[in-house]
Amino acid sequence: MPSIKRITGFIGAEISDLRLDGDIAEEAAVFLRSKLAKHHVLVLRDQHLSIEQQKEVTKVFGPLMRLPYVLPMESDPDVIAVLKEADEVNVGVFGGDWHSDFSFLENPPAGSILSAVEIPEVGGDTVWANQAAAYRSLPTHLGEFVDSHRAVHVGKPYGVKYAPSQREQSSASIKMSRGDPNADRETLHPSVITEPTTGEKALFLNPIYVTKFEGLTETESAPFLDQLYKHCTRPDISCRHRWQAGDLVIWDNRMTMHYATNDYDRSRRLLYRTTFERDIPR
Ligand code: SIN
Repeated sequence: MPSIKRITGFIGAEISDLRLDGDIAEEAAVFLRSKLAKHHVLVLRDQHLSIEQQKEVTKVFGPLMRLPYVLPMESDPDVIAVLKEADEVNVGVFGGDWHSDFSFLENPPAGSILSAVEIPEVGGDTVWANQAAAYRSLPTHLGEFVDSHRAVHVGKPYGVKYAPSQREQSSASIKMSRGDPNADRETLHPSVITEPTTGEKALFLNPIYVTKFEGLTETESAPFLDQLYKHCTRPDISCRHRWQAGDLVIWDNRMTMHYATNDYDRSRRLLYRTTFERDIPR
């Protein structure tokens, strides 16, 4: 029987005594899905999965999802190699700001899995913040505001209108397509979404992709977004994973935001990333 231990008071749990490198029994799949719905981030150490095995684990949570704008591995379109080479110094990293992956899509990814292959001796941790805990603890005026305002999401890093400067762009080892006017399309999502199995509500806003609230200009939206981001990225509602090669981390992309720390210049870091989908957030 697997065992599970919470990592912090609000988010994340580490599962032991469960190997995912063979057939995954239905009982184990149900266990993993229910624990993800509860803890939003699951850590399984020392798994050392092959890419095929990682894809099988991914399918436990939903159909595999391919992502636009980021080039997958040549050998497998379902997998992105999240790589920064040791000689890529003073450049941005993929996911190096608080975000929910690809929230500007009509149906943003439900969750992702990272499998650690090569990890710097120090640094390169990933941080997740629980957006359900953030929502529950909002001051009343902000709670009422997000309940009644949908948000506008735009694929800023990939489009034309908000194209990042060269300095802010990610390492060249992860190939992103930039300057695509299609990424400038605006998608409306509720600012508060509900986890379909638990009914838990969470904030669904993030600084990489949200530009403003419906019916407000960017300037009018900015003070609300500033207060909200300060609130929903607090260390109190976050967990931080110190990677070791072989680790597998599964997270719910909608109930959390995540952040890839960029503090490991002159070391190589490689993780394989798969993504799963589910119905459009409501
Ligand atoms: C990401 O998926 O945003 C990247 C996370 C990481 O590299 O730690």
